[in-house]
Amino acid sequence: MKARRILVLGGTGFVGRSVCARLVQSGRTPRVLTRDLSRSRSLQVLPCIEIVRGSPHDPDALAKALDGVDAVVNLVGILHQSARQPFEKVHVEFPARLVRLMGELGVRRLVHVSALHAAAAGPSLYLQSRGRGEEAIRSATGIEATILRPSVIFGRDDSFLNLFAGLVRPLPVVPLAGASCRFAPVWVEDVARCVDVALDDPATIGKSYDLCGPGTYTLADIVRFVAGQLGKRRTILALPGPVAQLQAMVLERLPGPVMTRDNLRSMQVDSVCGCGFPAVFGFAPAAMEAVVPEYMGRQGPRDRYDRFRSR
Ligand SMILES: NC(=O)c1ccc[n+]([C@@H]2O[C@H](COP(=O)([O-])OP(=O)(O)OC[C@H]3O[C@@H](n4cnc5c(N)ncnc54)[C@H](OP(=O)(O)O)[C@@H]3O)[C@@H](O)[C@H]2O)c1
Repeated sequence: MKARRILVLGGTGFVGRSVCARLVQSGRTPRVLTRDLSRSRSLQVLPCIEIVRGSPHDPDALAKALDGVDAVVNLVGILHQSARQPFEKVHVEFPARLVRLMGELGVRRLVHVSALHAAAAGPSLYLQSRGRGEEAIRSATGIEATILRPSVIFGRDDSFLNLFAGLVRPLPVVPLAGASCRFAPVWVEDVARCVDVALDDPATIGKSYDLCGPGTYTLADIVRFVAGQLGKRRTILALPGPVAQLQAMVLERLPGPVMTRDNLRSMQVDSVCGCGFPAVFGFAPAAMEAVVPEYMGRQGPRDRYDRFRSR
């Protein structure tokens, strides 16, 4: 039977917005629990969506949000930790509490979005915490979970390609840490489609799927690609290890850091998949070259309206 009422945790984020739109498109009713209603503005235009204010860390708010749903999609995650929100709390304790509460309330189905190469013995605190979060979900009794492990995700509002776009615009020479690290970026709409397919396919229960796009690029290739989209030619200065560490040490002290030493440790493993895109989802993922030119670098009147709408 099709799962119709879906609690989407982390639904206001970059991936969450695409997931909610996809769920609505396939006839479902998402319910989004958010700590900050103002972050849900772009979701409010979707028909049949319910947006509820509350913290997923508040057991009462979470229990209320779980009431009457058929399934849960968990997209809660952070790339940088802070004293107020450590990885342990967001990536390990939260999913453990979520599956416990789901078990108590009889909600069995969960699609959990983690990260490629998440492992308790991973090279960074980020990957270790994501790995332990996955373990908490796998060991929960009575929960029918599917775990999706994407490489870096790109899309119009991402914080990956847009970060580099922000760098290459003003800088003729781009100093780049981890320049030779390889990535297989996957399109946000493809990740959303996988969530949607997984919700109805019992064959995905108890499985984990690595999600990569069709192309593999070094970080330097990606920055060159972004510069090309913006009509710029840029020189990339690959920072040697100790300089990259120093740069990250400075950047991680800034508010809303763009890079930390832990991010550098995550890049010790290439963010690429060992196998092709999982056949169970029934489609081939889109390449960056097919999607990004549709939105990056365009400055027509429609794009000015888009910026207006997003505010
Ligand atoms: N973007 C990528 O390239 C990428 C790659 C691999 C895996 N992932 C994973 O995919 C998921 C979604 O990523 P995203 O890019 O959409 O992230 P995002 O834009 O930063 O959104 C994260 C969402 O999680 C919620 N959230 C953040 N911190 C929280 C906290 N401390 N407690 C409770 N809720 C919190 C936020 O909800 P409210 O603020 O509304 O409460 C927000 O909607 C994450 O788990 C991420 O790790 C992303």
